[in-house]
Amino acid sequence: MCGIVGYVGHRGAQDVVVEGLRRLEYRGYDSAGIALVADGRLATEKRAGKLANLEKAIADDALPPTTVGMGHTRWATHGAPNDVNAHPHTGATRRVALVHNGIIENFAELRAELEAGDHHLVSETDTEVAAQLLELEVLAGADLTSAMLALVRRLEGAFTLVAVDALDPSRVVAARRNSPLVVGVGEGENFLGSDVAAFIEHTREAMELGQDQVVTITRDSVDVRNFDGTPSDGRRYHVDWDLSAAEKDGHDWFMRKEIFEQPRAVADSLLGRRTAEGHLQLDEMRLSDQELRDVDKIIIIACGTSFYAGLVAKYAIEHWCRIPVEVELASEFRYRDPILDYSTLVVAISQSGETADTLQAIRHARAQKSKVLAICNTNGSTIPRESDAVIYTHAGPEIGVASTKGFLTQLVACYLLALYLAQVKGTRFGDEISQVVRQLEAMPSHIESVLASADDVYALAREHVGTRSVLFLGRHAGYPVALEGALKLKELAYLHAEGFAAGELKHGPIALVEQGLPVLCVVPPAGRDQLRDKMVSGIQEVRARGARTICLVEEGDDAITPYADVVLRLPKVPVLLQPLVAVVPLQLFACELATVMGHDVDQPRNLAKSVTVE
Ligand code: F6R
Repeated sequence: MCGIVGYVGHRGAQDVVVEGLRRLEYRGYDSAGIALVADGRLATEKRAGKLANLEKAIADDALPPTTVGMGHTRWATHGAPNDVNAHPHTGATRRVALVHNGIIENFAELRAELEAGDHHLVSETDTEVAAQLLELEVLAGADLTSAMLALVRRLEGAFTLVAVDALDPSRVVAARRNSPLVVGVGEGENFLGSDVAAFIEHTREAMELGQDQVVTITRDSVDVRNFDGTPSDGRRYHVDWDLSAAEKDGHDWFMRKEIFEQPRAVADSLLGRRTAEGHLQLDEMRLSDQELRDVDKIIIIACGTSFYAGLVAKYAIEHWCRIPVEVELASEFRYRDPILDYSTLVVAISQSGETADTLQAIRHARAQKSKVLAICNTNGSTIPRESDAVIYTHAGPEIGVASTKGFLTQLVACYLLALYLAQVKGTRFGDEISQVVRQLEAMPSHIESVLASADDVYALAREHVGTRSVLFLGRHAGYPVALEGALKLKELAYLHAEGFAAGELKHGPIALVEQGLPVLCVVPPAGRDQLRDKMVSGIQEVRARGARTICLVEEGDDAITPYADVVLRLPKVPVLLQPLVAVVPLQLFACELATVMGHDVDQPRNLAKSVTVE
């Protein structure tokens, strides 16, 4: 949610900043802007709309050459996404410029204070208030770092701020509270970014900052301070993916590329988890076996697609570990006064590691003395840092705004957690753990086989241009898959799409079924608890009312054929692992349909990749 880039070094700052913004544009694309420091003045440009509009403005009206600058790509919170509200914002004398990600909660009273002092504000944003206050500090004689320290002590809310001073080309200064910011450490140059994609082209050495810290970068130094001014240090780490991971590699969309990367992402997330003796090991698990044995309830908190991964986890954990699991939307969790204590394990699932709703839920859980385990894809992000333990997924960077490989790797981490708990607790299921691990290890090749039939799914998607509504049905672990299939279609193709538990259909939603309505049905594998047979009944019921049934069915299951208008085949896998293969055709369907409808698949309207406001 908003992308920020800062640079000081020896390269042309304009190119570094614009390239960084291009790689961060997935975080927000309502407007974009840049501020450079050159010859004792600020050179700024900002435009509503996508980064291309800013680039055109810069091409029409060249900015001066310099090696110091910063930029911003916005997902609007305060004020409409127009040129005036776009970042950067400057103080009244244009001495400082500031960009911001987050929400300054006390901005109304700060704005009133400025206006009472005859300071005129041109935008509706909370950011301009901060820019004006920062400039007043600098005009009163403070250097930019001291001015930032003074400013942040007055702000409430969540923010990443980055600022430059026209009269001090040696430094770029940033601050963070509850909002992401990483430093890229180079040779004779340093970078700031909302995430490492901003500077991965130039350096893979990164520094994670703590909460409530101000960082000053110059060409040769990185100085970190706490908000009270005391010196501090950031944690250095090496980024283990390279530039090619942040490029489309011949695909039309990042999302399509990421769908096809799923076999590798799943394999990478499983790598090194099994000992030679067949035992599971989770290296980053910072909770002791005793702490895990004491767990008598699990609450999973997450948002959106990650929440659906949590729903799958419930089926797996309860079946394999016999521990009760609740799955809850992070945004609802703390407001309902949940019952938690030290024996409750809270599992927070977040691809980005920055989602504000999930972060606040974690803080609430820890305040009630519960242990929190994060499942996260982003090293250096806030959620794993604030959790007691973490299982990292190894999806690599996910740039398409709609999550795909992030989801599959979250499922893998959930299965690993469930199996690990079963191992530690010694449940009756214990003997089967190594068998399930082997089944998991076979999943990358099963996913490959689903991807090999992508053209059939694309052809099907193209038949659905003009469709107004699509339903998705699933049972058991297929139910979250149905929800995820519907979400993908909503966010990419802007279609009415709903996922239902198939058994629930007859309790109301079946009224939606009319002649020709496409209904995608995730059919469970045959042979367990009559699940498949119950699903077949549901399919017959909608078909009898005119629905066009598109059935995802495992190979060799022909009982479904008489009731299916279209059959898409899935490999034979156990029911609990079926989401790993069943969701893939639904991702391909949504991606292709949105493409032929002419939508921007990587940057769907109104969305942002990492949602850092509540
Ligand atoms: C949908 C999607 C979102 C995210 C949600 C949580 O395709 O990507 O629903 O899953 O915003 O994000 P994370 O996992 O980063 O906390």
